[in-house]
Amino acid sequence: NQQIVSDKALSGKKVIVTAGGTIEAIDPVRYIGNRSSGKMGIAIAEAFSNAGADVSLIYGNISISLPKNPNINLIHVESSEDMLQAVKENFKDGDVLVMAAAVADWRMEKVSDHKLKKHQDTNSLDLHLVKTKDILKEVSQGKQENQLVIGFAAETNDLIENATKKLQKKGADYIVANDVSKNVFGNDQDQVTILKKEGEKENWPRMSKIKIANKLVEMIKSIL
Ligand code: CTP
Ligand code: CA
Repeated sequence: NQQIVSDKALSGKKVIVTAGGTIEAIDPVRYIGNRSSGKMGIAIAEAFSNAGADVSLIYGNISISLPKNPNINLIHVESSEDMLQAVKENFKDGDVLVMAAAVADWRMEKVSDHKLKKHQDTNSLDLHLVKTKDILKEVSQGKQENQLVIGFAAETNDLIENATKKLQKKGADYIVANDVSKNVFGNDQDQVTILKKEGEKENWPRMSKIKIANKLVEMIKSIL
């Protein structure tokens, strides 16, 4: 029903959310991955969709089920390079990008086209890894004035200091900082601090990832 749709605060807004971890192939059977479950990103996609936005969820490796909401456009990717291409393509005419995905920082310089075998004569294996491209940085630096980019910062120490550096270096509008040394991966709850480009900080109490997602959407509604 058109009437109801257009009543929602974010109707007509195009929102891109990334979730889960990217995976980097080592050979045809093995990969480098990370502990991201996708819970935070999926909750954010759901919250934006509930607010009436046109949502695309670009997801990598996740360990929970995908959103059931039929209005969310689902795009699956594997590697960080695939995620970069999907984000660029979908955010071109987008209003908001939320990079909740745990993007791999390293990939194989050259993926082996055959299964790496254990050899009799050696007890170690060296993998030569190179840096992946920073999606948040690349997209933030190429964005238009009216496009909003929100990144995350996963830290185990010096949370605010490290997250502030990320906010500045990457050029995002907001960073959602969280301490991942404290049982965050796969958990239903998290404690985050929001860092804003203008310099303010908001320390949110520990709450469910669904509540964090809704609070983020409320914050963005007030800006758009
Ligand atoms: N990110 C990205 N592309 C990458 C790496 C990270 O877009 N290649 C994004 C993440 O999605 C997140 C933010 O950058 O929104 C911060 O990720 P994080 O892992 O906390 O920081 P890094 O910049 O990768 O630095 P480090 O892992 O060394 O702390
Ligand atoms: Ca990283």
